[in-house]
Formats: sequence, C-alpha cells, structure tokens
Amino acid sequence: MRKNIFRTKSINEFILETKKDGGMNRVLGTFGLTMLGIGAIVGTGIFVLTGVAAANYSGPALIISFIIAAIACGCAALCYAEFTAMVPVAGSAYTYGYVALGEFWAWVIGWDLILEYAFAVSAVAIGWSGYFNNILMNLGITLPQALTMAPYDGGLVNLPAIAILALIAFINIHGVQQSATVNNIIVGIKLAVVALFLALGVSHVETTNWVPFMPFGWSGVFAGASIIFFAYIGFDAVSTAAEEVKNPQRDLPRGIILSLIICTVLYIAVSAVLTGMVPYLEFKTTAAPVAFALQSVGYHWGAAAISVGAICGLSSVLLVMSFGQSRILFVMSRDGLLPKFFGHVHPKYKTPARSSLLVFIITAVTAGFLPINIVAEMTNIGTLCAFIIVSAAVIVLRKKAPNQVRAFKCPLVPVIPALAILFCGVLIYMLPLVTQIRFVVWLVLGFAIYYFYGYNHSILTTLRRSTVPLEDGAVPVATAETVQDKGHIIDIHH
Ligand code: ALA
Repeated sequence: MRKNIFRTKSINEFILETKKDGGMNRVLGTFGLTMLGIGAIVGTGIFVLTGVAAANYSGPALIISFIIAAIACGCAALCYAEFTAMVPVAGSAYTYGYVALGEFWAWVIGWDLILEYAFAVSAVAIGWSGYFNNILMNLGITLPQALTMAPYDGGLVNLPAIAILALIAFINIHGVQQSATVNNIIVGIKLAVVALFLALGVSHVETTNWVPFMPFGWSGVFAGASIIFFAYIGFDAVSTAAEEVKNPQRDLPRGIILSLIICTVLYIAVSAVLTGMVPYLEFKTTAAPVAFALQSVGYHWGAAAISVGAICGLSSVLLVMSFGQSRILFVMSRDGLLPKFFGHVHPKYKTPARSSLLVFIITAVTAGFLPINIVAEMTNIGTLCAFIIVSAAVIVLRKKAPNQVRAFKCPLVPVIPALAILFCGVLIYMLPLVTQIRFVVWLVLGFAIYYFYGYNHSILTTLRRSTVPLEDGAVPVATAETVQDKGHIIDIHH
C-alpha cells in the first residue's frame, strides 16, 4: 500500500473533539493567560543560562543576543497567535501541523516538542538543582559533588534534579490543580525577585565591565542568542491552555504576545545590569549568576532572596512544561502515533498518569546524567525547528484555506513568517555542530518510528481499515466521534 503521509484532519474535526464531555472549564482570560505565559517563560534561561552565554559567547553584548532571540520569538509568536485563535485546541503546534501540513509534519513537530518540553524540563531541573545547592551552601550544608553533578561535569548523578522531577511528576499525576491564584502568586514572587535584582544591582553597574563589549565578535553574539533563546521558550505553552479560555479567539493571541513582550523587557534590563555588575568571565564559575552577581557586590541577603525566588520560579516552569509534555504525548497517543498505552486517563485522578510517568523517566535520565548546556541546546534546536514548521504552516494555510475565519491575523504574511523562519534558521545554524548532528540523529530516529509504527497505528489508518475505503487524503467523516478519548483529563491551567 502506498503510504499517504500527508493525510490530514480538518479544523472542525479537531474543534469537535474538544467538545467531548462538554469540554473543560473555560475560566482563563487575558490576565490569567499572560501570567501563565510568564510562569512558563521566566526560569533557567534568565537565572542560569545568562551566565553561560555571557562568559562563553556574548560577553557584555548579551543584551544584543537577547534582542536577536526576541525578534525570532516575536515573529514566531505572531504565527502561533494566528493558529491558536483559529484552532483553539490543546495540542498546540502538533495540531497546527496536522491541520496545515498533514500527519507526517504533525509527527515531526510532535517529535520536536518532546525536545522542547521534556528537555526544557530537564534543563530547568538542573538549574533548580544549582540554586538549591546554593541555598544549602548558604546554610552551611555542602552536598558531595558526586551527587549534585552529571558525569560530564565531574560528578556521578544530579540527585536534587531527579528529586524535584519526582515531586513534580507526583503532583501532575495526582492532578493537583495549578490554580490561577497559585500561578499568579508564583509569578508575582518571580517578578518581585527580578525587580529586586534590578533595584539592588543597577547602582552597582560599572560601565568598565561593558568593555570590551563584544569580546567574541558577532559570531559570539549570535551563538549566545542561540543559547539564551531558551529563556523565551514557554510563550507557546500558553496555547496548550486553549480549551480552558473564555474567549480563545481574543485572549490567546493577547496572552502569547503580552507575556512575550513583558519577558523581553525584563530580560533586556537584567542582561544589561548583570553584565555591568560583574566582569563577564567571572560567570564561568557559577551556575547561579543572578544570585552570584548580588553576592559579589555584598548583598548576601539579596542573593539568598534571589535563590529562593528562583527556586519557586523554576518550579512553576517545571510544573507547566511537564504538564504540557504529558498532554502532548497523551494527544499523540490518542491519535495513534505513539502507543495507545500512554493515551490512557487515570480512572481516579483523571490525569494522563502513564504519560506523566514517561515524562518523569525521560527527564530524570536526561537531567540526572547530562550537563545543562547539552540539554538546553537540544531543547533549543527542537523548539526552533517546531517554530520554523509552524511559521511555514501559516503561509501554507493562507494558500490552502484562504477563507477560513482568522480571528487574529499575523501581520505582513508572508514577510513575518519568513523572518521567523530566517531568524530561527540562523539560530539553528549558530548552535554547535555536535548539537546539529545530535538533532539529525533525533529526527532520523523519529522518521523511523513514524514509518514503522506511527503510520500503521495512526487513527487515520485504523479508520481506513475499519470503514469503507477512502481516497488517500480524504478525511473520514466518523473521525471526530471515533478518535475521542475515553475520558478527559483534569487540566492544571486554571
Ligand atoms: N523559558 C524557560 C526557562 O528559561 C523554559 O526556564
């Protein structure tokens, strides 16, 4: 049988699926979504990777790296905004790929999103561990290096990272709801900590620390941008809350764009102050650069406050991103592209417990044994690739379905999507060769799984076998009813 890997489902079918059991609670508005976005965005990128990028790539020109990454994300965010208003379905980019480009590209995005979400969770857990150790040290407790560092970094296993992941998995499995109030409090703490840093740090900026501004040249600045791109990841997680938004057409684009704008402004301010406070090379020695900077100018209490705030902030990133990952795996399993085993809803907790456990296993192995730069770089390349496909999908769908109602239109199509593709492409190019090679291996593995497993087990194949023969590419009328899950999962985005 000739394989039709570009078969697709319609937007209406996807939307119908979300109405099952009356759908989820629609409680979120623009404010809640924006807070959710900031909750998922502000984390390891700003609290940890700024040091890595400044010391090794950007130098004081870290601020330019942040601006470059912001342009890439801004253009991609406008593309996400168009899709999320048009297809307000929780599968996010995976669903957009299905609608616009067909099953194969949906799979590629889904496979990339595993890098984005699971690897981001691992990187954040490693960052969490760095700040946790910092707090313990301030209390006079030093854990043995063998138990706090990955083998690559001279340890054995990063135990605190695994411990926090276990706790997060426990919470996710038991369906403890991340209520809007709790999320808002955590985001409030995060923002307060960042504001505290800016307030204390700004008067300790020595402009001499900004010279030389670009010690590693433009290539260093772009390489730095490809690393700290990580700091922006998470605005797209807003779209996974699509089914719980009161007015998705209006609020989702606003939530995505507003959270990105707020974080961009904060990041630019933090990078300017951070590199002004400490000579960039000194960041080589620390995994907690923001606290380190305050400590180095004598604010020990400030450093401790930053560490506690960072720990809270990183925890919310972990919670939201692991939740997002388990849900994406759940949807892909429901569609048959991954084993149905993971598309199961826990009868008591009403959560995708098995996929949450799978997320824990994947993230514990990566966080426990790999160093943060490898994990973060894999996250970045996977996310960048997903952003490129989503941006291309906007152009394709404008051609394929010009009359589809678009509550939010990405401006200047095809220029903005093309810019997103260009900037994301440049950032991929600037990542280390070894990361690109690892990514190609990852993709090849994904293609093989799709070809030998996903295609044959896809709900579209199953339907074709069990109903009247369909033309390749035709959409079975029964799909919307047939692919429904057996229950619904409780969401934590409230
Ligand atoms: N942007 C998120 C972070 O920096 C993933 O932790």
